This record gives sequence, C-alpha cells and structure tokens, in this order.
Amino acid sequence: MGRRGAESWPRGPGQRRPLLPTVLPLGLLLLLLPPLGSSIGAGRPPHLVFVLADDLGWNDVGFHGSEIRTPHLDALAAGGVLLDNYYTQPLCTPSRSQLLTGRYQIHTGLQHQIIWPCQPSCIPLDEKLLPQLLKEAGYATHMVGKWHLGMYRKECLPTRRGFDTYFGYLLGSEDYYSHERCTLINALNVTRCALDFRDGEEVATGYKNMYSTNVFTERATALITNHPPEKPLFLYLALQSVHEPLQVPEEYLKPYDFIQNKNRHYYAGMVSLMDEAVGNVTAALKSRGLWNNTVFIFSTDNGGQTLAGGNNWPLRGRKWSLWEGGVRGVGFVAGPLLKRKGVKNRELIHISDWLPTLVKLAGGSTHGTKPLDGFDVWKTISEGSPSPRMELLHNIDPNFVDVSPYLPECLLLL
Ligand SMILES: *[C@@H]1O[C@H](CO)[C@@H](O)[C@H](O)[C@H]1NC(C)=O
Ligand SMILES: *[C@@H]1O[C@H](CO)[C@@H](O)[C@H](O)[C@H]1NC(C)=O
Ligand SMILES: *[C@@H]1O[C@H](CO)[C@@H](O)[C@H](O)[C@H]1NC(C)=O
Repeated sequence: MGRRGAESWPRGPGQRRPLLPTVLPLGLLLLLLPPLGSSIGAGRPPHLVFVLADDLGWNDVGFHGSEIRTPHLDALAAGGVLLDNYYTQPLCTPSRSQLLTGRYQIHTGLQHQIIWPCQPSCIPLDEKLLPQLLKEAGYATHMVGKWHLGMYRKECLPTRRGFDTYFGYLLGSEDYYSHERCTLINALNVTRCALDFRDGEEVATGYKNMYSTNVFTERATALITNHPPEKPLFLYLALQSVHEPLQVPEEYLKPYDFIQNKNRHYYAGMVSLMDEAVGNVTAALKSRGLWNNTVFIFSTDNGGQTLAGGNNWPLRGRKWSLWEGGVRGVGFVAGPLLKRKGVKNRELIHISDWLPTLVKLAGGSTHGTKPLDGFDVWKTISEGSPSPRMELLHNIDPNFVDVSPYLPECLLLL
C-alpha cells in the first residue's frame, strides 16, 4: 500500500510565480508581489489543511466528554480554538457543497437531500470552488477521500473543479475494505455493486482489503512529505470515518469491550482509528516543517447518525434532522498562527464561512464567485472578535424529510 500510495499520484504544477528581475524599484516590487495572508500579518501564505469527518456526533469525541477516547483530537482542540457554536448542514452533499462554494444550497439546486448514486447531478459547473480560488492564489491543491458532489460527467470530478490531485471515492458511502458500493437500480429492480475508488480520474484497483482510512492517511502523509515547503499547500482530507457501514479492524474494538451496544462498540473503534489518522497527519506536517505555518481545521459534515452508532447527547436529533443534533457540528481550528489559543469560541460560525475565510487567509480573491453566503470569520476564530454572522439559513425545501428510519439497512449507508 505504501509504495503504490507514494508513487502513483501526479505531481502538482510547478511554481507559477515568475522570478522578479532584481532591478525593479522597491515600490513596484511590493505591488507585484502576491498579497500576503493579510489577516495573519507577515510571512508566507499559510498551509491550509482541512480534515472533514463523516457523520461524527457531538458526543463522540473526548473533548465533549465522550466515553470514546480521542487523544489526538483532544490535544489539538485544547491547544487551538474549539468551535462551540458551529453549524453544518444535516447531510453530506449539502454540507460539502457549502464548504466548497461558500453558498447556501438553495442557490445550487442541491437542497433535496443528497446526490444519490444514479442521479445525474453535481455542483453546477458555473460555481467557482474553493480549490480553484486557492489555486489562483498560488496553492498546490490536493484532495483525498469522499467527494459526494456529483460524478455523472467528467466535468464534475474533483480534478476538473480545482484539485491538482485526487484520490478517493465519489459517492456517499461504501464498504471500507472492498471500496464497492451497492445500490438498487429502481428502473431495473436489481441491485448492482461496483468499485468506487479513484486515483485522479482512473479507477484504482489494488486497494481491496485495505481499510480506507489507512489508505487515505497514507496518501495524505505522502503528499505532505513530498510537498515543497515554500509552496502553499491546500489539503482537503475528507475521511470515510465514521460513516456506516460499521467496520473496523479487530484491534480497535478491544479497548471498548465494555460497550454493550454492538453498533456503538464498532463505532467507538472507528472513531479511535480516525483519531490516530489525524495524529499521523499532524505528525507528518510537523516532521516536514510545515506545521509552524499551517492552519489546521477539523470539522464534521453533520451530526451523528444515532441509528448507526453515533451519539449527539445532550443535543436532540441526528443526521438528516434540523434539531441541534443534526446540524451543530464538532469542530476546531489548530496551529501556531492563531492569536488566542486554548479557548472555546461561542460565536456563530457556519460551514459556508470556510470559503471566504480560507481564501482571505491565502491572500486570494473571491471576486470570481457568485454572491457568497459565508463570512470571513478569521478574526472571530483567531482573536475572539464578534462573528459577522447574525443568522444562518439551513434550507428552503418543503419536501425535505428525514427518511433514515424507513430505509432498509443497506440503504442507510447513504
Ligand atoms: C423486484 O424484485 C424482487 C425480487 O428480486 C421482487 O420480489 C419484487 O416483486 C420486484 N419488484 C417489482 C416492483 O417488480
Ligand atoms: C499511523 O501511522 C502508523 C505508523 O506508520 C501506522 O502503523 C498506522 O496504521 C497509521 N494509522 C492510520 C490510521 O493510518
Ligand atoms: C517555520 O520553520 C521553518 C524551518 O524551521 C522556518 O524557516 C520558518 O521561518 C518558520 N516559519 C514561521 C512562520 O515561523
């Protein structure tokens, strides 16, 4: 796994900034230089590493008092800024679309639940996405993991939407080991299974029986290890953990043998493995010397699915629902560039805020986007200033229902 993981991805484009002739007057030189991460002050634009967990519930992390142990996440949160009033959308596709567009999904046609496997839909091609904006700002852009923003045309793929490299799966869920997704094709009344695993735009065979989170972590650390430190890095690591199906290597179950509920037992092991994955990624950033100029963000995409091991106590509700348990998200920001560390931030922040926040940090421009719903919340996070956000809109869709209790078990996977 290691050798294949390390060898096969295409390298990002080389440095694009032209070398400046040394004879230019200083004033002109300053004008020509790309804007520096202005909110941060001096220095190079920061590396941006965004880890998105899937279906991680409020009561599923140590720093919220869970019985599940997450030492790496706890340490990062404790040394960073814990987001206590942070909201996502209640489902995968809507949350992910807002993360990458900075816009509510009522504007993108993605308000009706998720993109289902056979549905010819993706984020509209005229939306400009976060990786495109960061690429324009001079970043190397890599994505590893779950896309779930449409794949019915090649133009919809992550590699066509701003990522230099991509490795992962395009649908909403699958088997952690076989990387196959089974789905009922209504028109034919048959269930078909197929491999959903890609390296770039090619089907990635040869990862059978390897747990996805290990494979993704290995790819992410290889990208970090091979990254030229002078070039700003954007790494979007969208882990499969801890979405259904409930699967994890045996050894991660043992510490949780005291948990009677079988779903919760497996789920706890999955969370622990994910915690280790995050530890590996931050260790790689440190040993490569990138950490001192990194803004590290950890977020869930929505609340936990209580029908599949997740727990949002004391919040009511679950994934799919608009109760707090569905939309109030686990999240924190870490890294040495934060001005105030070790604090709990109670300001209102929403998943649509990351795009303007990160593009600003990168010294980039959001001028090419359609009107944004997100706000730049860097000063709120880093310095504790009041959030520019007064309210948020979750959806306008009279047809939206939580169908999860009625799905046959195999379809709960979505
Ligand atoms: C679909 O196929 C199953 C058997 O695989 C059968 O029991 C069911 O009646 C079929 N449904 C329809 C609508 O044809
Ligand atoms: C983390 O790194 C260690 C050491 O390389 C490895 O054994 C372990 O499997 C990795 N964990 C994950 C979740 O990838
Ligand atoms: C980060 O570390 C590198 C290598 O040790 C050093 O050259 C650089 O100046 C440091 N950057 C910051 C922002 O401290």
